[in-house]
Amino acid sequence: MNTEILDSNTLYGLRRAAELLKAGDLVAVPTETVYGLAANASDSDAVKKIFAAKGRPSDHPLIVHISSIREISNWAVNVPEQAYLLGEAFWPGPLTLLLEKAPWVPMEVTGGHHTIALRVPAHPIMQKLLLLTELALAAPSANLYQYVSATTASHVYRGLGGKIHAILDGGPCAIGVESTIVDVRNQQPHILRFGPITANDIKSVLGQSVSSLLEHNIATSGNKKVHYKPNTPLYVMSADSIKKKLITTPEKIGLVLYSPALLTEVKNIIHKKTGNHVFVIQLPQEKTSYAAMMYSTLHELDMLDIDNIWLESPPTTDEWLDVNDRLTKAST
Ligand code: TXA
Ligand code: MG
Repeated sequence: MNTEILDSNTLYGLRRAAELLKAGDLVAVPTETVYGLAANASDSDAVKKIFAAKGRPSDHPLIVHISSIREISNWAVNVPEQAYLLGEAFWPGPLTLLLEKAPWVPMEVTGGHHTIALRVPAHPIMQKLLLLTELALAAPSANLYQYVSATTASHVYRGLGGKIHAILDGGPCAIGVESTIVDVRNQQPHILRFGPITANDIKSVLGQSVSSLLEHNIATSGNKKVHYKPNTPLYVMSADSIKKKLITTPEKIGLVLYSPALLTEVKNIIHKKTGNHVFVIQLPQEKTSYAAMMYSTLHELDMLDIDNIWLESPPTTDEWLDVNDRLTKAST
C-alpha cells in the first residue's frame, strides 16, 4: 500500500483525510500529545484494521476521540458527575476518562471490555477533522505495538509507512507524552496512566484525593511492563555511572543528558578517547520541554548505528511521573 502524506495546512489534505476515514480506512492524525492511528469508531471493520497495522493484540482497548464533552452520553452510560467536572476543566486536552461503555459501542473498540476510554483532543487539526467527518475516531498511538510513540509524521512513517492509507502531517506534537488516563467509574477516581494532567490537577478540580493504581488488572499501557521501546537497548543511568562507564566502554553510545554540568565532563572524556563514537543529545531542564523532545530523541538515536542508548535519569518529583513511567518501560 502506498501511504499518502497529507499536508494538514491545505484544504485538500484535510478533506482527503476525512474522505478516507469515512470510507473505513486508517489515517494517522496529529494530536497535542502524540500522533494517533485513527479509524471510524462506529465501524468495527475499520477498527480491526488498526490492530492489524500496529500488530496490537485485539484485547488491548482503544481511546475514542470525540469533538466535545456533549458527546460523552453517546458513548458512555452511568456517567458520574466527576466525569463532567473533569471534562469541563481539562477538555479539550490531554486527559482520557474511563467510563462504562454504551451497549451499542462495538466490542472491537473496547477490546472486549465493558468500559470505554474517551478524550476530546485539543490539536486544532484533530478538532477540524472531527467536525468535518462528524465521526468519533478510535485512535491508539501511531506506532508499531510496543515501539516508541510517534510525535512527528516521519516517526509515523518509519513504523507504519506502507501499512496505512495516509498520514495527516500536522507538524511536531506540542506535549509529546500520552494523555493521563483516569478511571472515574467509582466514587474514588484512579489514575491508570500518568500523563500531563497530574493527580494534583485532578484533585484541585474534584476537591478529593486521587489514587494511582499502578498495579491493576485494567488493560492500560500503565499496566504493561514493556512499552515505548526503541530497538537499541536503552539504559537509564545516574550521571556518575555514565561518567565511569564512558571512560572504558568500547561500544558506540548514544548519550542523552539532563544536567548541563555533565555535558562538560562528558566532552572532556570523549576528547581523551579514541576509536569509538559517542553521540550526545542534551535535553532541556524544564519538564514540559523535556517531555516534548523525549520520544523524538529516542527515534533519532534509534536510527543511528549505535550499540546502546544511555540516558541520564531526569528528576523524580511528581511533575516528572509521566516521563519516568515511559522511560522505565522503554528501558532494558
Ligand atoms: O494521548 C493519548 O492518549 C494518545 C493520543 C493518540 O490520543 N493515545 C494513546 O493511545 O496513547 P494508546 O492506545 O497508545 O494508549 C491508550 C491506553 C491503552 O494502554 C489502553 O489499554 C487504554 O488506554 N485503554 C483504552 N481503552 C480502555 C478501556 N476501555 N479500559 C482500560 N484501558 C483502556
Ligand atoms: Mg501507545
